Amino acid sequence: MAKITLEGQEHTYPVIVGTEGEKAIDTRKLRTDTGYITFDEGYGNTGSCQSNITFINGEKGILRYRGYPIDQLASGASFLSCAYLIIYGELPTQDQLDTFRDKVRENANLHEDFKHHFQGFPQNSHPMAVLSSMLNSLGCYYPDMSSNDREKDLANFDTAAALLISKVRTIAAMTYRMHRGMPFVYPRRDLRYVENFLHMMFTEPYNLYEPIPEVTRALDLFLLLHADHEQNCSTSTVRMVASGGANLFASVSAGVCALWGPLHGGANSAVIRMLSDIHASGDDGSRFIEAAKNGKARLMGFGHRVYKNFDPRAKIFATAAEDLLKALGQKDPLLDIAKRLQEAALEDPYFVDRKLYPNVDFYSGIVLRAIGIPVDMYTVMFAIGRMPGWIANWREVTENNKRIYRPRQVYTGPKERTFQPIEERDGHRR
Ligand code: CMC
Repeated sequence: MAKITLEGQEHTYPVIVGTEGEKAIDTRKLRTDTGYITFDEGYGNTGSCQSNITFINGEKGILRYRGYPIDQLASGASFLSCAYLIIYGELPTQDQLDTFRDKVRENANLHEDFKHHFQGFPQNSHPMAVLSSMLNSLGCYYPDMSSNDREKDLANFDTAAALLISKVRTIAAMTYRMHRGMPFVYPRRDLRYVENFLHMMFTEPYNLYEPIPEVTRALDLFLLLHADHEQNCSTSTVRMVASGGANLFASVSAGVCALWGPLHGGANSAVIRMLSDIHASGDDGSRFIEAAKNGKARLMGFGHRVYKNFDPRAKIFATAAEDLLKALGQKDPLLDIAKRLQEAALEDPYFVDRKLYPNVDFYSGIVLRAIGIPVDMYTVMFAIGRMPGWIANWREVTENNKRIYRPRQVYTGPKERTFQPIEERDGHRR
């Protein structure tokens, strides 16, 4: 029990303890009891839900999907088996995985009419704007899965989940091709998830994309490492939209918009732009570090609301970037700059005192660059990876939550005043 004394009166509130010992004061009755609310702008101390999906201990740099440490999954599982784990709670048996994979494969194609949607966008539209619109439009083709009737939407959940995991990748590839004025390429039934995506991206007329195992593995790992991350900005948005009863398509479409910003999923492309600028300016990174300390620049890919230690995904990506470049026989000066920035930042009191470490985005862009994905598509790649997490969170809310998410505020605007007709207001022209 927690005791809160307000205006001389003591109130007690239950304490909720999570399975990993995380503690929270349950203040749901606080306002009814006292008239007070809690104030926590940015939600740094607010538990918005109880969830079974992902656990993070930011102080220790721990990330687990459904209890499994991220490094074990990264070395032993594929993106699709992690997607299954995140959505259904258990790692799949071979039969379950085969069925899931078949369902994803069957749902790869888009309705032919979809091409018209792409034609409706200016060619240089941002791929995140296109993706969000397309995911919401997709729901219109499946009215039974996007009815906003919770029972009906849940009854069709398995198909909707596989369909979204599959089609988000087709939409992404079509967006890439639309941008470049290239003809759309249909998915193939004989290819696995990542190979099929690379085929839809890079196959040219008379020049079939040949899968490169190291590239396929690196992209699969990229998606796996992004698959869920508890109550981040986009996932909270998905839950917020779902709490009003909106369907899965609308909810993940909102998630894409929330992901777009540079403080969230947009950071991966911002990192590469930052590293490219540093490289072009001839700086070895030290001038940039000074600018970041003086508030004149932000070291993108550094810092995290939850991690006050290494983001475990950043460590895995740092190794993956080195391994991929080596396997492809490439050198990337941006990787050297990133490593120098990391070294300098980890020794600098500004970053040490604020516990700023590399986050998932610091090295992930170098992996995407080696694969040949253009910078404007990086956040779209993040969205493909995050789809299982959004889907699992949508289901958790839709199955369990009876109350709409509706925070309070502390109002700081004008007190009540009396309306004046326009002719009586100061500055009225006579
Ligand atoms: N470079 C320089 N200073 C920083 C940075 C940074 N990347 N991040 C935080 N700080 C400073 C900040 O200025 C503040 O200093 P002071 O206390 O003197 O005012 C202090 O560290 C605390 O920062 P904050 O902005 O209050 O922290 P936050 O928890 O609100 O923000 C963050 C977290 C991730 C938005 C922020 O660290 C940031 O902007 N990082 C760069 C963008 C980035 O890499 N985003 C990807 C996040 S991970 C993937 C994802 O979730 O999408």
